[in-house]
Amino acid sequence: MKITIIGTGYVGLVTGACLAELGNDVFCLDVDQRKIDLLNNGGIPIHEPGLEEVVARNRAAGRLRFSTDVAASVEHGEVQFIAVGTPPDEDGSADLQYVLAAARNIGRYMTGFKVVVDKSTVPVGTGDRVRIALQEQLQARGVDAGFTVVSNPEFLKEGAAVEDFMRPDRIVIGHDSTPEGLQAAALMKRLYAPFNRNHERTFWMDVRSAEFTKYAANAMLATRISFMNELANLADNVGVDIEAVRRGIGSDPRIGHSFLYAGAGYGGSCFPKDVQALERTARQYEQDLHILRAVETVNDKQKLVLGRKLLSRFGAYLGGKHFAIWGLAFKPNTDDMREAPARVLIRQLLDAGATVAVYDPVAMDEARRVLALDLSAAELARVRFASSPMDTLDGAEALVIVTEWKAFRSPDFGQIKAALKHAVVFDGRNLFEPDVMAELGFEYHGIGRSV
Ligand code: NAD
Ligand code: UGA
Repeated sequence: MKITIIGTGYVGLVTGACLAELGNDVFCLDVDQRKIDLLNNGGIPIHEPGLEEVVARNRAAGRLRFSTDVAASVEHGEVQFIAVGTPPDEDGSADLQYVLAAARNIGRYMTGFKVVVDKSTVPVGTGDRVRIALQEQLQARGVDAGFTVVSNPEFLKEGAAVEDFMRPDRIVIGHDSTPEGLQAAALMKRLYAPFNRNHERTFWMDVRSAEFTKYAANAMLATRISFMNELANLADNVGVDIEAVRRGIGSDPRIGHSFLYAGAGYGGSCFPKDVQALERTARQYEQDLHILRAVETVNDKQKLVLGRKLLSRFGAYLGGKHFAIWGLAFKPNTDDMREAPARVLIRQLLDAGATVAVYDPVAMDEARRVLALDLSAAELARVRFASSPMDTLDGAEALVIVTEWKAFRSPDFGQIKAALKHAVVFDGRNLFEPDVMAELGFEYHGIGRSV
């Protein structure tokens, strides 16, 4: 099938590469010339396990192309996926300018029937706005070409994006019941047939319900995390081990084990913005989403918890004190630092007068970029970008772990103890067992583990 992907970011690039892997002829469009040049030169703009190989294989096979040529991209695909960003606007609602620009571009150049698929995360009703934006362009040109808008939200996780796309637990498709909508549904069925071979994973619905399903999923996952973080903070006060509690409740199949890990707060490009956008949608209908408002507040506070623990251990003024930080990306297996809890922690420690040495297995370049934006030159001078985990430790009052990279799970504790000024570990992701750490001679602070 001939497919166009508009927007070659996390979702667009993974979708394009994986659909090419299934044998489709894929044209990826982006407005970012540097990104397109990099991809055309065999580079890859993001760190995502397995993606480089899939991109290289399919480029070599001629099934995957990258371009900034809008007219050619519209001409190419019978199915046009919109996978551009939907960042938060100033009021927290989703900024649809990129989605609508992509829709207008399709209307500006299309000559025959197109299925326009919204893969970006967009508020309920966006399908209608995309249809109107596209229709206006067709009318201005006096062209009578048929099209329909489908909603096909994406559920992949960064760090596991290729695996999630290739082995989806569900495919949600919202379409109209018009003849064009039914024609689009048949095309989508054919496109996704390889994923449904063993059992049917597609859920068919109307466009608005599909748009809503995406927000409901992210909001539910964010709620679980904030709920556990709030319980973890109580566990700290009452002398309970939240990890024992997590296992105890997760074993109930009605609750399940995933997304119950207390920690330094959720980050990333999606949970924070999607929770806000759903709240904003509700407010437009004069409804208050009380639970989601609390989810957001709890998360904002949770990102401060590690720093607060440090301040209460070492004092409110940290001048002359140095700390080692492991993990900068918002989660393991990605170099993405959007809304990363590490950024909040670094700000807290610098504000209190400390110096820090930081390390992340893949996000060092991104850290240099975002911290240069977050911090003044004088503040940045108090951050040392280390070359390895052990390189952060010399003379540090404590080691602070913010992201649960596998490489941090079995460190040489003897070496850590020898290098640190005090044998103190603040573990923002509960990687270690408190009793084992005590036996090893460490003062250990987890999240919700003050047993
Ligand atoms: P991103 O910022 O990584 O990529 C968006 C790309 O779109 C950029 O490369 C940008 O240059 C390009 N772009 C913007 N306007 C364009 C236009 N008019 N024509 C062509 N290209 C254009 O964004 P992302 O993380 O891939 O997210 C895309 C959407 O998917 C968002 O709505 C997001 O909420 C959703 N989503 C993201 C993830 C994720 O893990 N990142 C997962 C599921 C859903
Ligand atoms: C999330 C969803 O999991 C995807 O299904 C969705 O497609 C995506 O958002 C999106 O819409 O963009 P992602 O943000 O890539 O994916 O990563 P997650 O694994 O969900 O982690 C998000 C944050 O929650 C991370 O900061 C992580 O550390 C935190 N988290 C996760 C916890 O604190 N506890 C947990 O138990 C799980």
